[in-house]
Amino acid sequence: MFSNIPYGAALSSSPPDLEIVMNCTLLRADVAATLKREHEAAKATSPAGAAQSMPGLNQPAHKLDFRTSEIHRVNYLAIGPQMGRFLYNTARAVDARHIVEFGTSFGISTMYLAAAAADSGGRVVGSEFHPNKAEKARANLADAGLSDLVEIRVGDALETLADVAEPIDLLFLDGSKDLYLEILKMLEDRLKPGSLVICDNADHLPQDGSFMQYVGEKSPRYLTTLVGFKKGLASYSLVLV
Ligand SMILES: C[S@@+](CC[C@H](N)C(=O)[O-])C[C@H]1O[C@@H](n2cnc3c(N)ncnc32)[C@H](O)[C@@H]1O
Repeated sequence: MFSNIPYGAALSSSPPDLEIVMNCTLLRADVAATLKREHEAAKATSPAGAAQSMPGLNQPAHKLDFRTSEIHRVNYLAIGPQMGRFLYNTARAVDARHIVEFGTSFGISTMYLAAAAADSGGRVVGSEFHPNKAEKARANLADAGLSDLVEIRVGDALETLADVAEPIDLLFLDGSKDLYLEILKMLEDRLKPGSLVICDNADHLPQDGSFMQYVGEKSPRYLTTLVGFKKGLASYSLVLV
Protein backbone atom coordinates (compact mmCIF):
# COMPACT_ATOMS: atom_id res chain seq x y z
CA MET A 1 0.00 0.00 0.00
CA PHE A 2 1.27 3.49 -0.91
CA SER A 3 4.68 2.07 -1.82
CA ASN A 4 5.00 4.19 -4.96
CA ILE A 5 4.22 7.48 -3.29
CA PRO A 6 7.32 9.61 -2.69
CA TYR A 7 7.66 10.88 0.87
CA GLY A 8 8.93 14.30 -0.15
CA ALA A 9 11.69 16.42 1.22
CA ALA A 10 12.27 14.45 4.42
CA LEU A 11 13.78 11.77 2.19
CA SER A 12 14.67 13.67 -0.96
CA SER A 13 18.07 15.03 -1.87
CA SER A 14 17.01 18.26 -3.58
CA PRO A 15 16.58 21.14 -1.11
CA PRO A 16 13.16 22.82 -1.16
CA ASP A 17 12.57 26.50 -1.67
CA LEU A 18 13.97 28.68 1.15
CA GLU A 19 10.65 30.35 1.90
CA ILE A 20 8.97 26.97 2.39
CA VAL A 21 11.78 25.84 4.68
CA MET A 22 11.30 28.91 6.84
CA ASN A 23 7.69 27.89 7.37
CA CYS A 24 8.36 24.23 8.01
CA THR A 25 11.10 22.99 10.30
CA LEU A 26 10.62 19.46 8.95
CA LEU A 27 12.13 20.63 5.65
CA ARG A 28 15.14 22.36 7.23
CA ALA A 29 18.42 20.84 5.97
CA ASP A 30 19.67 19.53 9.34
CA VAL A 31 16.29 17.98 10.21
CA ALA A 32 15.76 16.42 6.77
CA ALA A 33 19.32 15.04 6.63
CA THR A 34 19.14 13.50 10.11
CA LEU A 35 15.76 11.93 9.40
CA LYS A 36 16.97 10.55 6.09
CA ARG A 37 20.04 9.02 7.73
CA GLU A 38 18.05 7.53 10.62
CA HIS A 39 15.24 6.16 8.44
CA GLU A 40 17.88 4.45 6.32
CA ALA A 41 19.60 3.01 9.39
CA ALA A 42 16.24 1.83 10.75
CA LYS A 43 15.42 0.15 7.46
CA ALA A 44 18.79 -1.59 7.32
CA THR A 45 18.26 -3.05 10.80
CA SER A 46 14.53 -3.73 10.64
CA PRO A 47 13.10 -6.38 13.01
CA ALA A 48 12.86 -8.95 10.21
CA GLY A 49 16.62 -8.73 9.68
CA ALA A 50 17.32 -8.66 13.40
CA ALA A 51 15.07 -11.65 13.98
CA GLN A 52 17.05 -13.61 11.43
CA SER A 53 20.35 -12.68 13.02
CA MET A 54 19.28 -13.41 16.59
CA PRO A 55 19.09 -17.12 17.32
CA GLY A 56 16.00 -18.18 19.23
CA LEU A 57 14.01 -15.06 18.40
CA ASN A 58 10.86 -16.49 16.92
CA GLN A 59 8.30 -13.92 18.03
CA PRO A 60 7.50 -10.47 16.69
CA ALA A 61 8.97 -7.59 18.70
CA HIS A 62 5.63 -6.46 20.16
CA LYS A 63 5.25 -9.81 21.92
CA LEU A 64 8.61 -9.57 23.70
CA ASP A 65 9.31 -7.87 27.03
CA PHE A 66 10.70 -4.39 26.36
CA ARG A 67 12.83 -4.57 29.53
CA THR A 68 14.70 -7.76 28.77
CA SER A 69 14.59 -8.46 25.02
CA GLU A 70 17.70 -7.62 23.02
CA ILE A 71 15.57 -6.42 20.12
CA HIS A 72 14.04 -3.65 22.24
CA ARG A 73 17.43 -2.62 23.57
CA VAL A 74 19.19 -2.31 20.21
CA ASN A 75 16.58 -2.03 17.46
CA TYR A 76 14.91 1.10 16.09
CA LEU A 77 11.39 -0.36 15.78
CA ALA A 78 10.64 3.06 14.36
CA ILE A 79 7.73 4.63 12.55
CA GLY A 80 8.13 5.13 8.80
CA PRO A 81 8.30 8.46 6.97
CA GLN A 82 4.56 8.45 6.17
CA MET A 83 3.61 8.16 9.81
CA GLY A 84 6.24 10.77 10.64
CA ARG A 85 4.75 13.24 8.20
CA PHE A 86 1.31 12.45 9.60
CA LEU A 87 2.53 13.24 13.12
CA TYR A 88 4.18 16.47 12.01
CA ASN A 89 1.13 17.62 10.04
CA THR A 90 -1.27 16.76 12.85
CA ALA A 91 0.76 18.39 15.60
CA ARG A 92 1.27 21.43 13.43
CA ALA A 93 -2.40 21.67 12.41
CA VAL A 94 -3.61 21.72 16.02
CA ASP A 95 -0.77 24.01 17.03
CA ALA A 96 0.31 21.50 19.68
CA ARG A 97 2.31 23.18 22.42
CA HIS A 98 2.71 20.24 24.78
CA ILE A 99 3.44 16.90 23.16
CA VAL A 100 4.07 13.73 25.14
CA GLU A 101 5.55 10.57 23.63
CA PHE A 102 5.47 7.08 25.16
CA GLY A 103 8.35 5.12 23.53
CA THR A 104 11.11 7.24 21.99
CA SER A 105 13.65 4.60 20.93
CA PHE A 106 16.32 6.39 18.85
CA GLY A 107 14.14 9.44 18.40
CA ILE A 108 12.82 9.21 14.85
CA SER A 109 9.20 9.96 15.79
CA THR A 110 10.48 12.47 18.35
CA MET A 111 12.20 14.46 15.60
CA TYR A 112 8.94 14.76 13.65
CA LEU A 113 7.10 15.87 16.79
CA ALA A 114 9.88 18.27 17.75
CA ALA A 115 9.88 19.81 14.26
CA ALA A 116 6.17 20.53 14.70
CA ALA A 117 6.82 21.87 18.20
CA ALA A 118 9.44 24.20 16.71
CA ASP A 119 6.79 25.64 14.39
CA SER A 120 4.05 25.83 17.04
CA GLY A 121 6.16 27.26 19.86
CA GLY A 122 5.79 23.98 21.72
CA ARG A 123 7.80 21.30 23.51
CA VAL A 124 8.05 17.51 23.55
CA VAL A 125 8.48 15.19 26.51
CA GLY A 126 9.70 11.78 25.34
CA SER A 127 10.24 8.57 27.29
CA GLU A 128 12.57 5.62 26.81
CA PHE A 129 13.36 2.68 29.06
CA HIS A 130 16.83 1.91 27.69
CA PRO A 131 19.52 4.52 28.52
CA ASN A 132 21.60 3.67 25.41
CA LYS A 133 18.60 4.47 23.21
CA ALA A 134 17.82 7.72 25.01
CA GLU A 135 21.45 8.79 24.58
CA LYS A 136 21.37 8.12 20.84
CA ALA A 137 17.98 9.86 20.55
CA ARG A 138 19.51 12.94 22.18
CA ALA A 139 22.43 12.80 19.73
CA ASN A 140 20.00 12.57 16.81
CA LEU A 141 18.00 15.52 18.11
CA ALA A 142 21.25 17.49 18.43
CA ASP A 143 22.19 16.64 14.83
CA ALA A 144 18.74 17.85 13.77
CA GLY A 145 19.11 21.07 15.78
CA LEU A 146 16.05 20.21 17.87
CA SER A 147 17.58 19.43 21.29
CA ASP A 148 16.26 22.55 23.00
CA LEU A 149 12.67 21.50 22.38
CA VAL A 150 12.79 17.99 23.80
CA GLU A 151 13.22 16.38 27.18
CA ILE A 152 13.70 12.61 27.15
CA ARG A 153 12.88 10.86 30.41
CA VAL A 154 14.75 7.60 30.96
CA GLY A 155 13.16 4.64 32.75
CA ASP A 156 9.71 3.05 32.83
CA ALA A 157 7.27 5.62 31.41
CA LEU A 158 4.70 4.56 34.00
CA GLU A 159 6.98 6.32 36.46
CA THR A 160 8.83 8.90 34.38
CA LEU A 161 5.71 10.39 32.74
CA ALA A 162 3.59 10.29 35.87
CA ASP A 163 4.14 13.94 36.69
CA VAL A 164 4.02 15.56 33.24
CA ALA A 165 2.21 18.87 33.34
CA GLU A 166 -1.20 19.66 31.90
CA PRO A 167 -2.60 20.30 29.40
CA ILE A 168 -1.29 17.68 26.95
CA ASP A 169 -2.25 18.69 23.42
CA LEU A 170 -0.99 15.54 21.71
CA LEU A 171 -0.19 12.18 23.27
CA PHE A 172 1.67 9.72 21.03
CA LEU A 173 1.69 6.10 22.23
CA ASP A 174 4.42 3.91 20.73
CA GLY A 175 5.95 2.01 23.67
CA SER A 176 5.00 -1.41 24.95
CA LYS A 177 1.58 -2.22 23.47
CA ASP A 178 0.22 -3.81 26.65
CA LEU A 179 0.81 -0.53 28.51
CA TYR A 180 -1.07 1.82 26.15
CA LEU A 181 -4.23 1.72 28.23
CA GLU A 182 -2.42 2.14 31.54
CA ILE A 183 -0.40 5.10 30.20
CA LEU A 184 -3.55 6.69 28.75
CA LYS A 185 -5.44 6.28 32.03
CA MET A 186 -2.49 7.72 33.94
CA LEU A 187 -2.37 10.83 31.75
CA GLU A 188 -5.98 11.40 30.77
CA ASP A 189 -6.72 13.89 33.52
CA ARG A 190 -4.28 16.13 31.63
CA LEU A 191 -6.06 15.86 28.28
CA LYS A 192 -8.58 18.54 27.35
CA PRO A 193 -11.30 18.84 24.70
CA GLY A 194 -9.49 19.01 21.37
CA SER A 195 -6.44 17.06 22.53
CA LEU A 196 -5.37 14.13 20.37
CA VAL A 197 -4.24 10.63 21.29
CA ILE A 198 -2.44 8.84 18.47
CA CYS A 199 -1.33 5.28 18.95
CA ASP A 200 0.94 3.38 16.59
CA ASN A 201 0.52 -0.33 15.89
CA ALA A 202 -3.21 -0.38 16.58
CA ASP A 203 -3.19 -3.74 14.80
CA HIS A 204 -0.76 -5.19 17.36
CA LEU A 205 -2.56 -4.38 20.58
CA PRO A 206 -3.31 -7.02 23.23
CA GLN A 207 -5.99 -9.41 22.01
CA ASP A 208 -8.44 -8.57 24.80
CA GLY A 209 -9.21 -5.40 22.81
CA SER A 210 -9.23 -3.31 25.98
CA PHE A 211 -7.51 -0.24 24.51
CA MET A 212 -9.76 0.04 21.46
CA GLN A 213 -12.83 -0.61 23.62
CA TYR A 214 -11.77 2.18 25.92
CA VAL A 215 -11.39 4.77 23.14
CA GLY A 216 -13.86 3.20 20.69
CA GLU A 217 -17.53 3.46 19.72
CA LYS A 218 -18.97 3.41 23.23
CA SER A 219 -16.48 5.80 24.71
CA PRO A 220 -18.09 8.89 26.24
CA ARG A 221 -14.88 10.83 25.89
CA TYR A 222 -12.99 9.86 22.73
CA LEU A 223 -13.91 9.95 19.05
CA THR A 224 -11.64 7.42 17.38
CA THR A 225 -10.78 6.39 13.86
CA LEU A 226 -8.12 4.14 12.39
CA VAL A 227 -5.58 5.36 9.86
CA GLY A 228 -3.64 3.00 7.57
CA PHE A 229 0.06 3.30 6.82
CA LYS A 230 2.55 1.14 4.96
CA LYS A 231 3.62 -0.37 8.28
CA GLY A 232 0.10 -0.93 9.62
CA LEU A 233 -2.68 0.85 11.47
CA ALA A 234 -2.62 3.79 13.84
CA SER A 235 -5.55 4.81 15.99
CA TYR A 236 -6.41 8.47 16.12
CA SER A 237 -8.61 9.73 18.95
CA LEU A 238 -10.01 13.19 19.48
CA VAL A 239 -10.78 14.08 23.10
CA LEU A 240 -14.35 15.40 23.23
CA VAL A 241 -14.81 16.29 26.86
C1 LIG B 1 8.28 0.94 18.82
S1 LIG B 1 9.66 1.58 19.67
C2 LIG B 1 9.45 3.33 19.55
C3 LIG B 1 9.85 3.88 18.21
C4 LIG B 1 9.87 5.38 18.16
N1 LIG B 1 8.61 5.96 18.58
C5 LIG B 1 10.19 5.83 16.75
O1 LIG B 1 9.27 5.85 15.92
O2 LIG B 1 11.35 6.14 16.46
C6 LIG B 1 9.18 1.32 21.34
C7 LIG B 1 10.18 1.82 22.35
O3 LIG B 1 9.48 2.00 23.57
C8 LIG B 1 10.32 1.62 24.63
N2 LIG B 1 9.44 1.27 25.74
C9 LIG B 1 8.53 0.26 25.78
N3 LIG B 1 7.88 0.26 26.95
C10 LIG B 1 8.39 1.28 27.67
C11 LIG B 1 8.13 1.79 28.97
N4 LIG B 1 7.22 1.23 29.78
N5 LIG B 1 8.80 2.87 29.39
C12 LIG B 1 9.73 3.45 28.59
N6 LIG B 1 10.04 3.01 27.35
C13 LIG B 1 9.37 1.94 26.89
C14 LIG B 1 11.14 0.47 24.09
O4 LIG B 1 12.35 0.32 24.78
C15 LIG B 1 11.33 0.87 22.63
O5 LIG B 1 12.55 1.53 22.44
